[in-house]
Amino acid sequence: MRRTVLQNAHLIDHRGDHGKADLYLRDDVIEGIDLGGEVAQTIDVAGAVVTPAFIDLHAHLREPGQEVKEDLRSGLGAAVAGGYGTVVSMANTTPVVDEPGLVTEMLSKSEALGLARLRPAAALSRGLQGKQLTDFAALREAGAVMITDDGEPVKDAHLLRRACEYAAELGLVVQTHSEEPGLRQDGVMNEGLVSQRLGLPGNPVAAEAAMIYRDCEVAMLSGGRLHVAHVSSKRGLQVVEWFKAQGAPVTAEVTPHHLTLSDETLEGFDPVYKVAPPLRTHDDVAYLRNALIRGVIDAIGTDHAPHTQAEKERDLLEAPFGIANIEVTFPLLYSELVANGGLELSTLLDLLQGGPARVMGWQVPTLEATRAADLVVLDLETGRRVAPETFKSKAKQSPWTGQVLKGWPVMTFVRGKMVFEREVLSD
Ligand code: DOR
Repeated sequence: MRRTVLQNAHLIDHRGDHGKADLYLRDDVIEGIDLGGEVAQTIDVAGAVVTPAFIDLHAHLREPGQEVKEDLRSGLGAAVAGGYGTVVSMANTTPVVDEPGLVTEMLSKSEALGLARLRPAAALSRGLQGKQLTDFAALREAGAVMITDDGEPVKDAHLLRRACEYAAELGLVVQTHSEEPGLRQDGVMNEGLVSQRLGLPGNPVAAEAAMIYRDCEVAMLSGGRLHVAHVSSKRGLQVVEWFKAQGAPVTAEVTPHHLTLSDETLEGFDPVYKVAPPLRTHDDVAYLRNALIRGVIDAIGTDHAPHTQAEKERDLLEAPFGIANIEVTFPLLYSELVANGGLELSTLLDLLQGGPARVMGWQVPTLEATRAADLVVLDLETGRRVAPETFKSKAKQSPWTGQVLKGWPVMTFVRGKMVFEREVLSD
């Protein structure tokens, strides 16, 4: 038996603020508060918040095949540095995760690493080609928790319908990348005043809104549980809201970058801001932020999408889409939306803990005895600069470089073990 106590912890979970107490962990679970008795390890966390570790339903960890961008060790290391205890990895790797053997291999590798818990997503179509469904039953049996071609929209509505029907039978969630290909074309940024001024090919909001509409109709038709990834625009989210109001089986995710950055960031032609779907206007950002407060967004997913420095240094037309953000998500959102915005801390935490769990039908994490000791210790006071060179991720670039943020995770525990401790405690 291994006992650890986190002393003087400010305990918060979705049930509320439990004030200051000593939290006892026994082996891989929470034992209780203020118990006393022999412990192997005492950690004083005075001044910090202790709360369940975050759950990310959307991260590109790049293994297998793209280890030059990220691998399970660096990606899951980045995740725990960001306060995440559970991560759903996307399937747009090389090879694509469309075979049960790949799922099994990823799971055994990640378990040996002992960092965040990996919950792989599997591809909806073979090779992400949008033509033939994968074997959902076999993939689920191997441990896949979600079905998605994320990175690519499912062009064929009939294929999506069959996917939703099949997934519904198995109780799996289908996540969509909702961008209508004919409208998106080769757009590299939001279509609007800024793209016109810069002379860059635009990707209109209509591409997102039209595809979300189609995807939600298919969900209603088939009864499939559909999770709309990375909603970036006001119109896109309004479509989701409209379907939700009718009881459609749909949930929605927004990302840290769509909540904090607009298309004006592209004015310097820096590919660090190139992402799909693209950064939209201030109006869209304001709408998404307000939607968090109104409770119409189910979860925040990072869409952590690491690329090499060389790839991100190409010109804007050639560079790949994607922002590596899993290590800054909480401090960014805490600083911009809670400390300097109108969002309650409890709402932000729920969007990173209970929200993702509910989307997946998992137990909502709490600090109650017997629950998994997957925890994050958050320092809400100390301002620290975003320094990508210190990232655990292989992607050492960030749209927020140099920004001073508060809310940094200082320790992360998974299965009762400390898997991350921030080295530099102040700037
Ligand atoms: O910006 C993005 N990057 N959006 C996606 O949907 C895919 C991702 C990637 O895999 O790099």
